[in-house]
Amino acid sequence: MASSTTRSSRKTPKDLLTIASLSVRHITALIKHAQSLKTKRRARRMPRPLVGKTLGLIFEKPSTRTRVSFEAGMNQLGGQSLFLDSEKIQLSRGESLADTAQVLSRYLDGLVVRTFDQTTLEDWATYATIPVINGLTDQCHPCQILADLFTISIKKKRLKGLKLAYIGDGNNVTHSLLEAGALMGMHVSVGCPSGYEPDQKIVDWAQEEALKTKTKIQVTADPVEAVRNADVLYTDVWISMGQEREQKRRLKALTPYQVNEGLLRKAKADAMVMHCLPAHRGEEISTGVLDGPQAVVLEQAENRLDMQNAILIDWLGS
Ligand code: CP
Ligand code: NVA
Repeated sequence: MASSTTRSSRKTPKDLLTIASLSVRHITALIKHAQSLKTKRRARRMPRPLVGKTLGLIFEKPSTRTRVSFEAGMNQLGGQSLFLDSEKIQLSRGESLADTAQVLSRYLDGLVVRTFDQTTLEDWATYATIPVINGLTDQCHPCQILADLFTISIKKKRLKGLKLAYIGDGNNVTHSLLEAGALMGMHVSVGCPSGYEPDQKIVDWAQEEALKTKTKIQVTADPVEAVRNADVLYTDVWISMGQEREQKRRLKALTPYQVNEGLLRKAKADAMVMHCLPAHRGEEISTGVLDGPQAVVLEQAENRLDMQNAILIDWLGS
């Protein structure tokens, strides 16, 4: 995990692999830039700083939002994108990742990679000479959570001092939320059953970072305690991509952790409900809450576009 020695630096690292590797100043600047791009997009006055640039997307897992928002974003910014189904390139027939990354670096200006192990993503970053952006791994989902920080800051007008409660499986989304909360001064309380806690190394990192921002990072088995006084309720699927074989066991363990009307009542009256989508109605979230007035999930999905446009300009722009 990245050290926090550059917390105040605005420098763009070569790759975007985790939230923890970014500085507070950089995240703040990305949120500000996303806001300005959103205003321009809605006014149909988008800048086109990526003319002549091509983004490749290598996905080993399905995607709707990440793929489409990155591809649409490149188009809006004047560039082009190339979706590379990992099953349809020579990688699937044994060509090495190292060779593939080096060759693609000669054609492309950036790569979004969605894969399983974080170490595979790190290998892409090692061998590619172009920026590699994490489009989701088993460990984390930084682009999602950067966009979510943008959504929260729009809705609540701040991040610092807010309490975000994440209820359900301690997964990749949880990990990025923990890192983001600790850095940006947002309290994060994770309510999850025993055996489904987030990775202890990431919790430890977040707790250490949180000391600097005077933020509370908590993991509890009690969902009611987790949501008490929460400004934001967040949940995600109980069965992440790649965990399909654990379906039965997961459904059983996680059922008491559904975000439903009863749990929502225990949070602040004006709490907003977030979900990175895709959602499984009736599992991690009730239909009533997902489609209810406190949920912001569609705007949350839309904001992927504006935050990722800010990311694309930052990492691919010259
Ligand atoms: N939230 C998210 O990353 O969605 P996709 O899997 O559809 O990209
Ligand atoms: N935790 C989910 C997120 C999907 C966007 C998964 O990894 O499948």
